[in-house]
Amino acid sequence: MADRYLHFTGTPPGRFLTRRLGLPRPAPLRRFGPAATDLGGPVILRTAGRSALDGPLPLDEPLTPDGTAGTEAETPRPAAVVLDATGVAGVADLAAVHSALHPLMRSLAPGGRIVVVGARPSADDHHQAAAQQALEGFTRSLAKETGGGRTANLVRLTSPDPAAAASTLRFLLSPKSAYVSGQVLELTGTAPAAAADPARPLAGRTALVTGAARGIGAAVAEVLARDGARVICLDVPGAGADLERTAGALDGTALPLDITTGDAADRIVAALPGGELDILVHNAGITRDRRLANMSADRWSQVLDVNLAAVLDTTDALLKRGAVRRGGSVVATASIAGIAGNTGQTNYAASKAGVIGLVRSLAPRAAAAHGVTVNAVAPGFIETRMTAAVPLLIREAGRRMNSLAQGGLPVDVAEATAYLADPASGAVNGQVLRVCGQSLLGA
Ligand SMILES: NC(=O)c1ccc[n+]([C@@H]2O[C@H](COP(=O)([O-])OP(=O)(O)OC[C@H]3O[C@@H](n4cnc5c(N)ncnc54)[C@H](O)[C@@H]3O)[C@@H](O)[C@H]2O)c1
Repeated sequence: MADRYLHFTGTPPGRFLTRRLGLPRPAPLRRFGPAATDLGGPVILRTAGRSALDGPLPLDEPLTPDGTAGTEAETPRPAAVVLDATGVAGVADLAAVHSALHPLMRSLAPGGRIVVVGARPSADDHHQAAAQQALEGFTRSLAKETGGGRTANLVRLTSPDPAAAASTLRFLLSPKSAYVSGQVLELTGTAPAAAADPARPLAGRTALVTGAARGIGAAVAEVLARDGARVICLDVPGAGADLERTAGALDGTALPLDITTGDAADRIVAALPGGELDILVHNAGITRDRRLANMSADRWSQVLDVNLAAVLDTTDALLKRGAVRRGGSVVATASIAGIAGNTGQTNYAASKAGVIGLVRSLAPRAAAAHGVTVNAVAPGFIETRMTAAVPLLIREAGRRMNSLAQGGLPVDVAEATAYLADPASGAVNGQVLRVCGQSLLGA
């Protein structure tokens, strides 16, 4: 279902009317593609006080020298600013955050990025903890006020090794993160070396995507294949032609299978080349909405079975057999409904909150025992058949109630999934990455 309002606000009468009436003014987002492989401008690196890192932050992009943003007439407008605030250890240090970013706010290009890099709030030093937590409120507020399709996110490093941030900075400083804003990502440990070919970071890897026939799952399969993975596309047997089409278009394999069937894990392993995979994406999901007073036990259990029990069962079975290779990743699909709750969705929100619980608990153990990361994406309002079925007024509210004032596209969730599946993202574990344009729900 096309977002006609977004199109209208890009026309001269649309611009005039929305400005006069104070209506939301969504900016078209620059998404990754052959014509947009980067943000299209220089990145500025600033440091608030003294960095607590062992070395400089790893940035691929063209940097303007620190502190010389130049005037608009002299240099192109910066496309991004990265602020190293890892050394911020007290309230007084926060003044350096203000003075580093304040002068840049008017020059940051539309669609630009603000990335604040902080440290984990200390359990032993409440002054450091207060100052580092302050960065969260600061960044989330910037994300809300910056406008023009710009985003702001906070990355927390738990070790002084800046290499851990490489894949996360690459993602946040690219058009791939267009719909990720107002988020906090905490990185643990050190990342392994980046892939030999940055254009195909998943080359030689095998991925399984559930619910891949259409919507977000089809986009995930497509993006993983673009990044070099061999993809097995799983969906219910009833998805038939759609599944064949998706798998065929990316030279992948179609696996018609209901993920809730008892022997699903056996049949998945049988379909994998060599019986092993590197990337397991749990995307299959359903809704059966009713208020609890009107909800049958069937509607309850259908949703819990597909969205949560099957995710737990297949993950357990594949990890137990050693079918997920070391350096691999599990990416599950939660939802902002699992964070904020939603009327008529007690079953769905319970299942998606359950996914978050699974991820947080399993991640450290899976890393220790299997060398595998476990993360979740939590989509907000994404334009798919699922959201096209939502009544018009609620759909329109869903689209606008976020800082970017528009719905996301399946590819936005797919790019976030590919980032989490990248072996270079080994320092990202146990995270729930919202892909929601900084939705007001559960923010
Ligand atoms: N669209 C959104 O705005 C949104 C928001 C938050 C979360 N999500 C989540 O993202 C995921 C994908 O959503 P979507 O909008 O693309 O949905 P969709 O309905 O378009 O696609 C879901 C796919 O999962 C498949 N599926 C359902 N039950 C299955 C089963 N038992 N076994 C195998 N496959 C099964 C379906 O056949 C379908 O192809 C879901 O987990 C959904 O809950 C979506």
